[in-house]
Amino acid sequence: MEMEDHIKSEFSKRFGSEGTLYASAGRINLIGEHTDYNGGFVFPGAIDKVIMADIKPNGTDKVRVYSIDIDDYVEFGLKETDVPEQQWAKYIFGVCREIIKRGGKVEGFDAVFAGNVPLGAGLSSSAALESVFAFALNDLFNENSIDKFELARIGQSTEHNYCGVKCGIMDQFASVFGKKDHLMRLDCRSMEFEYFPFHPEGHRLVLVDSAVKHELVGSPYNRRRESCERVAAKLGHQTLRDATMEELDSIKSEITAEDYMRARYVIGEKQRVLDVCDALVKGDYETVGKRMYETHEGLSKDYEVSCEELDFLNDIAKECGVTGSRIMGGGFGGCTINLVKDDLYDNFVKTATEKFEAKYGHAPKIYDVIISDGAHKC
Ligand code: GLA
Repeated sequence: MEMEDHIKSEFSKRFGSEGTLYASAGRINLIGEHTDYNGGFVFPGAIDKVIMADIKPNGTDKVRVYSIDIDDYVEFGLKETDVPEQQWAKYIFGVCREIIKRGGKVEGFDAVFAGNVPLGAGLSSSAALESVFAFALNDLFNENSIDKFELARIGQSTEHNYCGVKCGIMDQFASVFGKKDHLMRLDCRSMEFEYFPFHPEGHRLVLVDSAVKHELVGSPYNRRRESCERVAAKLGHQTLRDATMEELDSIKSEITAEDYMRARYVIGEKQRVLDVCDALVKGDYETVGKRMYETHEGLSKDYEVSCEELDFLNDIAKECGVTGSRIMGGGFGGCTINLVKDDLYDNFVKTATEKFEAKYGHAPKIYDVIISDGAHKC
């Protein structure tokens, strides 16, 4: 059964009526990793993998939600103390609370949801979940008076205040603002952004999922952020966006080697995003790919958010002549994103699958990327 029909029939079975269907997307990021919380640039796009939710106000002060994929049902109230125990439900509770804290309205509702954004693959399934509920509750209770940036911030604050991840804005931004066939360059300091048409002639974007569980909750993600903030403060800047490599070198002996490496990666990555955007406009995919490999190197050696499996996949990409390849998202597992020439695609996928399986005992998952729309009513 199609996901949409499955959700609708489950909703009517459980709640005896019909809701309104909304969807929001996972995301890829071509380049610009761990730059968002440093006030830098990111270059994401929404993808054709979504979370869909059927929702209807129920006239009470209780939220009743069923997750088809987890096969779990939760009821919670809307007061700050009503926080549910299940991790997945905290995302929804957090979104409700963040809307209420901003003076918005949320009353009781019933919901059933499901999705095909792979969990723990670094494709922002949690941002898709936050965004679909933020978008829906804005429509159902607030006459769409909350602007789209605020919807993204509601998702981000949910992560900060209810899920323990001090993430940047990229994932929620991409999930809310995504547009078919376009990537978006977002300046995370000014929050200005631009859509870039994305048709990499002669190339395909493919994700290779190591299936190493990427889990940012309780991960060293927050510690990476703290390193960056320490260095920025030491330099008298609000964020590393304003720092140069020369400045960083001038304080090298006063900071830890680890903080130095983290900041060196972030400062380098800032320029790489701008280079990639320029190269893309000119159709210069060689430069795009070169920068992607450089990002991988930085994320692996300086930022230390890679793992053996992702480095192995990156090496295979190089051996197969793939134009660009790197870890995508927060790291600590998940996928590599690969820009592959059409005529090398089959060989790359076959080689990566066989070699990875031979070494780790399980095949990686392969996802072709289709850049799609973000949050919407279906
Ligand atoms: C996670 C976070 C984002 C961003 C990326 C790394 O996906 O949620 O805010 O920091 O990691 O670029």
